[in-house]
Amino acid sequence: GSNQMWGGRFAGGPAAVMREINASIGFDKRMWRQDVAGSIAHVDMLGRQGIVPSTDAAAIRDGLGRVRDGYAAGDLPDDPALEDIHMATEARLADDIGPAAGRLHTARSRNDQVATDFRLWVRDAIDEVDGGLAALQKVLVNRAGEHADSVMPGFTHLQAAQPVTLGHHLMAYYEMLARDRSRFSDARERLNECPLGSAALAGTGFPIDRVATAEALGFDRPTRNSLDAVSDRDFALDYLTAAATCSVHLSRLAEELVLWASQPFGFVTLSDAWSTGSSIMPQKRNPDAAELVRGHAGRIAGAMVSLFVTMKGLPLAYSKDMQDDKPPLFEAHDLLALSLAAMTGMVESVAFRTDRMRAAAEAGFATATDLADWLVRERGVPFREAHHIVGATVKAAEEAGVALDALPLDRLQAIDPRLSGDARAVLAVDASVASRTSFGGTAPAQVRDRVTEAKAVLGMT
Ligand code: ARG
Repeated sequence: GSNQMWGGRFAGGPAAVMREINASIGFDKRMWRQDVAGSIAHVDMLGRQGIVPSTDAAAIRDGLGRVRDGYAAGDLPDDPALEDIHMATEARLADDIGPAAGRLHTARSRNDQVATDFRLWVRDAIDEVDGGLAALQKVLVNRAGEHADSVMPGFTHLQAAQPVTLGHHLMAYYEMLARDRSRFSDARERLNECPLGSAALAGTGFPIDRVATAEALGFDRPTRNSLDAVSDRDFALDYLTAAATCSVHLSRLAEELVLWASQPFGFVTLSDAWSTGSSIMPQKRNPDAAELVRGHAGRIAGAMVSLFVTMKGLPLAYSKDMQDDKPPLFEAHDLLALSLAAMTGMVESVAFRTDRMRAAAEAGFATATDLADWLVRERGVPFREAHHIVGATVKAAEEAGVALDALPLDRLQAIDPRLSGDARAVLAVDASVASRTSFGGTAPAQVRDRVTEAKAVLGMT
């Protein structure tokens, strides 16, 4: 038969494939909680404004409570004939309370309803992600505090560059995640205006109270333009761009764990709980979770692009294309939440092989800059000339197959007589990191200060 919501002007029902392509119930049922909350706020307002008789409003509210209880108990709708969660909720309400249910949709359209539900869902998603980011930050800060003095090679071009501390390296990720939290928080603030009451696109002639429904749903205020409100998905794009940036950070850390867990590096051993074996190679201990965090970043970026392409060029106001907003956002959110949890578990339990890190820092001539700086500071040599002199000492050490500080003094002085025995002291990796005391530098004292500040920000003290 024809549709119970709009069957009045139809003689026949939809083709089976029409029903299939039209339905969003398969994924938008995830918004059941938000859908019921939006309807309760709406009907309470309709009752208070005298738009719906107060006895009907009360019956609708009670019925919606029972529909919600059914959903919460796991009885979610999936009949594509009802298209989406909005129509499914109303149909359940009608089954429960009868024809009075038909008053719920007064002064409302699914266009403002879906925009409201989706904003509420994304707002909850942002709060969940913020919790996950804070948890990962806490773990990073704790591990950084343990390793404020642990020396490792710092890299540029993935070539040993200058020694840094492991604590400093870990705190770099703390900073990235702090920016992620700030991006999500900005998105939340912009998101927090209520589209409900914009109706189909033009607003409504009923004397609704949009401030009241906005407030009941925890929004700061109602949106100011009904056309924009029903066709805006910026809040979803904001979520996805913030998620994509965040996933890039997680992916970079994941890549470092993969690299560091490899035998040639040997900087870390992932715990048993975060490693997998091989069905054929008995020796294997694979960093699958880190690889999947790295991989998921690609899917999250894909979800972001998907919604941008969906929205691009859509005329005002609502078009059905916009129903395709939810699958990419839900997917990105699930992947991000999982990635954050996995990364938190890995960082919390990874064993850092500080002996291997120190040996690598000592092997790669990583303190050559320190020797050049010594010539500048102690001998007044211009930096460019000092760079050249030290380049020659590195070449000599490489040829002799020894570390810089193992070059005999006469060999050093043959390169430049201004190089004296005490110059060698600056070649020690501990001396090198300890000297980097500029604000935000790698000196253990700096790292400890940053860790203390971060713990205060995170409420860890
Ligand atoms: N299922 C639709 C969606 O998710 C609800 C809005 C339908 N509005 C309309 N004018 N057909 O976007």
